[in-house]
Amino acid sequence: MTANNNIPPTTHSGLIAWVDEVTALCQPDQVHWCDGSQEEYDRLCEEMVASGTFIRLNPVKRPGSFLSLSDPSDVARVEDSTFICSKNKEDAGPTNNWADPASMKETLTGLFRGCMRGRTLYVIPFSMGPIGSPIAHIGIEISDSPYVAVNMRIMTRMGSKVLEQLGADGDFVPCLHSVGKPLEPGEQDVAWPCNKTQKYIVHFPETREIWSYGSGYGGNALLGKKCFALRIASTIAREEGWLAEHMLILGIESPQGEKAYIAAAFPSACGKTNLAMLVPPEAFAGWKITTIGDDIAWIKPGKDGRLYAINPEAGFFGVAPGTSEKSNPNAMATLHSNCIYTNVGLTPDGDVWWEGMTKEPPERLTDWQGREWTPQIAKETGAKAAHPNSRFTAPATQCPSIDSAWEDPQGVPISAFIFGGRRATTVPLVFEAFNWNYGVYAAATLGSETTAASIGAVGKVRRDPMGMLPFCGYHMGDYFNHWLKMGHIIEHPPHIFCVNWFRLDEKGNFMWPGFGENMRVLKWIVDRVNGRVGARQTALGWMPRYEDMDWNGLPSISPEDFQELMHVDTDQWQQELSLHTELFDKLQERLPRQLVLKRELMNMRLWK
Ligand code: GTP
Ligand code: SPV
Ligand code: MN
Repeated sequence: MTANNNIPPTTHSGLIAWVDEVTALCQPDQVHWCDGSQEEYDRLCEEMVASGTFIRLNPVKRPGSFLSLSDPSDVARVEDSTFICSKNKEDAGPTNNWADPASMKETLTGLFRGCMRGRTLYVIPFSMGPIGSPIAHIGIEISDSPYVAVNMRIMTRMGSKVLEQLGADGDFVPCLHSVGKPLEPGEQDVAWPCNKTQKYIVHFPETREIWSYGSGYGGNALLGKKCFALRIASTIAREEGWLAEHMLILGIESPQGEKAYIAAAFPSACGKTNLAMLVPPEAFAGWKITTIGDDIAWIKPGKDGRLYAINPEAGFFGVAPGTSEKSNPNAMATLHSNCIYTNVGLTPDGDVWWEGMTKEPPERLTDWQGREWTPQIAKETGAKAAHPNSRFTAPATQCPSIDSAWEDPQGVPISAFIFGGRRATTVPLVFEAFNWNYGVYAAATLGSETTAASIGAVGKVRRDPMGMLPFCGYHMGDYFNHWLKMGHIIEHPPHIFCVNWFRLDEKGNFMWPGFGENMRVLKWIVDRVNGRVGARQTALGWMPRYEDMDWNGLPSISPEDFQELMHVDTDQWQQELSLHTELFDKLQERLPRQLVLKRELMNMRLWK
């Protein structure tokens, strides 16, 4: 592109110096300071259509929308190549990869030298949280990917307004990103440049810096999201006394107009976007679910002794497969226009399609690897139209269920925390923790089957404390301590609940219909918080009896089915407790004693 605005539109000498330094190191052909305008967005998209990175979708069916197909080696987060480079190895903890900051900087400097040759360097100023709000934090991403620049415009508040807010000496987190594929003179670019063999997603928590090399995909490349708003922000939050969590935030309003807010943590691809946009079943006439955020929550103590949460993002980077009018009509409405799709199928009429989008698949399409796809081919070879971790990038403002307070800088008061994993066995539909400390124990020992959101085996149960295993920027033992402490400095801590939408019967079918029907569980949760519904005490916590939940309009779940869904098998739970030890043992002396105690109490309850 022609760089007509390579003159820094800022007086921030620290920022100018950093951009100069990176330019000298990476040797791009040109520098472009993003202003975040519609005109700039349109121009970048147009250029990517010309270069083959973008396919413009049918302007009637999907106005202003584009499809991008990644390199098949660059389809998800790379946890094995993600590092926390704290000064002391112990501070990163046993659940993070660690490297010495100085030697990692040396390695990265070598990789970044000349890595933007033949490309444009984009300076992308962004704000996590509404610009100017006291809870917002500013980042500057430097990237050689126009795909990153346009995605950042949807996912964050991006452009000139951020530089204005930054002023001449404001604080920002420098986020350096390269796809790691310099172009030799005359070399033809590919549609999805990346580095097929070397990837590094690196965080320096003490100096609050991010360096990402080799991938153009999702959380590896859109650095405001997992790298900043979770890994770096979690370290800031610990210092300052708040929480940065992998949580959706939703509002729940009764027909009488009573409103509560809930924040819920689930590991990647385990249901946050779906729950955040839930549409209640017909029998719940007058009930409303509203969306504040679908992936990340920044949660701070308010003056009234409650916790208040904001969504630092401005868009949804959501899992495409499984999204349909039936499962998530609000997402489908959000996807009507102005979206970017990555790694989904392309129909002959220029629309998108993915597994689960419609009951009947299209007769044929082009799959995410650009190959011919038909239902027959799928049947014979198992080929997928869309990659299991294919995603949409969609503006939050387009979501019909967006909450009127979603940009309120004060945040919304949280009444309950929910933690959930993907578990085929063992874990019941829902239980309420006896108290804060035990709730933290239950969250800290959360198990979940791995999903396609990260490169590696899918379906293997691993401990994923608070859904934060890949996203906590410091030692997990310190993180648990921080959670315990937060419950005690808060006068009115939220109640803590655990859920599992994914339990299977012997035939391998989901026992619980999920999606909109999860409303029934949400209602029980709100009623518990308000002390107006019963429960029975079990070894795990308080659990609804059949009569404690509203079954109106769901005849398919009989009292016997419910009993199965809620069953706590003592043998399975003793086994489960031994898995809790596996993670806890690694944390050694940084494991809070309080959690050891909780484990012993649970052990006793199971044996009695
Ligand atoms: P990330 O964006 O990776 O953090 O994922 P997420 O937690 O937002 O998960 P999402 O809501 O996108 O759901 C991931 C997958 O789980 C999709 O294929 C959904 O169809 C499926 N899913 C979501 N909710 C339910 C549910 O209640 N029951 C069942 N069976 N599947 C669900
Ligand atoms: C997740 O993996 O939890 C995501 C997608 O939300 S990514 O932004 O790629 O991390
Ligand atoms: Mn996520």
